[in-house]
Amino acid sequence: MAVSVIIGGQWGDEGKGKIVDLLSQKADIVARYQGGPNAGHTVVINGKEIILHQIPSGILWPHTNCVIGNGVVIDPRVFLEEVAFLKDQGVEIDDRLLISDRAHLILPYHRCLDTASEESQGSKKIGTTGRGIGPAYMDKVGRFGLRVCDLLDEQHLRTKITDILARHNKVLESIYNCHPIQAEDIVEQCLAFAQSIRDHITDASVYLNQAINDGKEILLEGAQGTMLDVDFGTYPFVTSSNPTAGGACIGTGLGPNRLDHIIGIVKAYTTRVGMGPLPTEFDAKFSEHIRQLGGEFGATTGRPRRCGWFDAVVVNNAVRVNGLTSLVITKLDVLDTLEEIKICTAYEYNGMVFEHYPADLKVQLGARPILEKHPGWLTSTTDIKSWENLPHNTKSYLNRLSELTGVKIGLVSVGPDRNQTIVVP
Ligand code: IMP
Repeated sequence: MAVSVIIGGQWGDEGKGKIVDLLSQKADIVARYQGGPNAGHTVVINGKEIILHQIPSGILWPHTNCVIGNGVVIDPRVFLEEVAFLKDQGVEIDDRLLISDRAHLILPYHRCLDTASEESQGSKKIGTTGRGIGPAYMDKVGRFGLRVCDLLDEQHLRTKITDILARHNKVLESIYNCHPIQAEDIVEQCLAFAQSIRDHITDASVYLNQAINDGKEILLEGAQGTMLDVDFGTYPFVTSSNPTAGGACIGTGLGPNRLDHIIGIVKAYTTRVGMGPLPTEFDAKFSEHIRQLGGEFGATTGRPRRCGWFDAVVVNNAVRVNGLTSLVITKLDVLDTLEEIKICTAYEYNGMVFEHYPADLKVQLGARPILEKHPGWLTSTTDIKSWENLPHNTKSYLNRLSELTGVKIGLVSVGPDRNQTIVVP
């Protein structure tokens, strides 16, 4: 039995939801370890699309237990909406969902601060999802955030919320010209939330470590991707958590020696939403073409995603900082109609060649991708079920991705459905 981590190898939206769903079939437990409702994990079952923001996508298999780890930030409103949505879809949660007592909460003041801060930045904004993610993690590292365990003592909860709002209301009123938020409204929301989740709260680290000792199969589900990691991404155009493998340990309470497989999910090309560098970005017309072919619109905000060629510098960054043990290539079919496909192998900036992703934002923004060309395969791959039946040019393209990254490709996804997945021998 093993612990596998599913990690986005680019800027998020790599199709992790589908792969987690697929691998959950054999998992006893699926745990989320960072991020919050900024994530939108899409699963398509029998043609029906389900998008989950807070609850691990493993919940769609009746035998799987799900955990929201301490590294996640939970928005009670989104969480309760998602529980109701799943119930409507006939998914029974019962006692299959556990929530870490150490996870932090996203409350309405975080969303106000997120939106107000973005608006105040004008053209320098990050392009966040507006879900309050940054402000909630700022409270956490500022050491005054509200945690799930705080919900269980009403007196303590009331005092804590009053103290937190004394800080935030000053900022909302005097810097952002917003209305102050009433403590009692937040207390009421928190108490209602506490009532609904009381039986699900646990020490998730104890639970997960015991599960490993008992020989359970565990999947750790990352949100966003390596290039949005606050340490290894395109800072400051990143999210406020660590989607990378180290974050999986921190966000669950598992030691590094507990992780067996670190699986990187990458698209056969590249996308990102929001602002910031994207060295292999297409021109506007070709970007729109691929966006339409790939349905590249954000699952959480509906924003159009920016598109570009596969960038081996980006994926090699993910291979290195995560210690990826295998790759899953998704959305290969989106390239089916292209006559020529390019791969970025390095960057050029001011006469210098960069093989490793540079830290300096100026270099990231000015980097010119060095591209190699590959012939397309001009055949639909969406109904192909085995590696042997893939066109010769498709196999050459995939073999080249594996060669450039030095990591074996385990699965290739050629469509959104569970059965549109090819196992690579
Ligand atoms: P935040 O996480 O809402 O603070 O947004 C910070 C950056 O991360 C923005 O560029 C977002 O577009 C991006 N981002 C956050 N979550 C996701 C995701 O799940 N997929 C892709 N991009 C994301």
